[in-house]
Amino acid sequence: MQKSVVVLVGSGSIGQAIARRVGAGRHVVLADLRLEAAETAAKLLEDAGFETSAVAADLSSRDSLLALIDHARSFGLIANVINAAGVSPSQAPVETILKVDLYGTSVLLEEFGKVIAEGGSGVVISSQSGHRLPALPEEQNAALATAPTEELLALPFLASITDTLKAYQYSKRCNVLRVMGEAPKWARRGATVNSISPGIIITPLANDELRGPRGDGYRRMIAGMPARRAGTPDEVGDLAEFLMSSRGRWITGADFLIDGGCTASYHYGELQYLKATH
Ligand SMILES: NC(=O)c1ccc[n+]([C@@H]2O[C@H](COP(=O)([O-])OP(=O)(O)OC[C@H]3O[C@@H](n4cnc5c(N)ncnc54)[C@H](O)[C@@H]3O)[C@@H](O)[C@H]2O)c1
Repeated sequence: MQKSVVVLVGSGSIGQAIARRVGAGRHVVLADLRLEAAETAAKLLEDAGFETSAVAADLSSRDSLLALIDHARSFGLIANVINAAGVSPSQAPVETILKVDLYGTSVLLEEFGKVIAEGGSGVVISSQSGHRLPALPEEQNAALATAPTEELLALPFLASITDTLKAYQYSKRCNVLRVMGEAPKWARRGATVNSISPGIIITPLANDELRGPRGDGYRRMIAGMPARRAGTPDEVGDLAEFLMSSRGRWITGADFLIDGGCTASYHYGELQYLKATH
């Protein structure tokens, strides 16, 4: 019997939290650049009653994403796709950030948009970082939203980026715009697609930052946020679940900032001091 399939690309904490909320009774494909990460997540989910398979997949490669789609479709129709893969500014050089976070996410939206099931739904994890860029010229917005994927990385305003934080911010802004550009196409299949822009979410990566040399700066930022604490993957999972549920059917092409008020404080509150460095 054909199953309803959920595909998670990037099997880290945020992705797992979402998959657990939408995966019951379905086949959950856990994909990650590191097969070990996908297998670890698959074991956790299997032990909690989910049916899973784990595969290696590289978000920055169209061939790899096409192979992932073939794998997923061998189980049934792809009802949900979750993109929670990404590399952060302290993890990778500019070229890798743009290739994975910006180009890879755009290819994923394009290719899954061709096969998503009628009534299906996708979610892309962007970041509050994209909300720290000033407004871009209208022609740059349009290019990020709709330029052919294979031409994206050659756009002059992207090709000239030399700073990893800028590369991350443009990538995350692009995720939001690309979701807007793709939503009308996904709608032809009766499917919705949205992005979520989280603030500081406690994951192994964030805990490393808190224990590392930038820990004091991180703690100061968290103390200055309206919520006075970091977020949890489950809180992002709850939002994603709503967007992908029957209650979210009137929501598509939209971005949701979930950051404990960090962005509001960055622009207009006590975190304005960060503008000098971010
Ligand atoms: N944790 C936070 O505070 C935070 C805040 C805002 C946005 N985000 C975003 O959330 C997403 C998930 O982050 P997380 O905190 O769960 O981190 P994580 O490191 O736990 O998960 C990311 C996963 O993506 C995988 N990955 C990296 N490159 C890949 C590639 N080319 N192809 C496939 N998989 C790849 C990694 O192996 C890892 O398992 C990322 O896009 C990140 O930018 C995280």
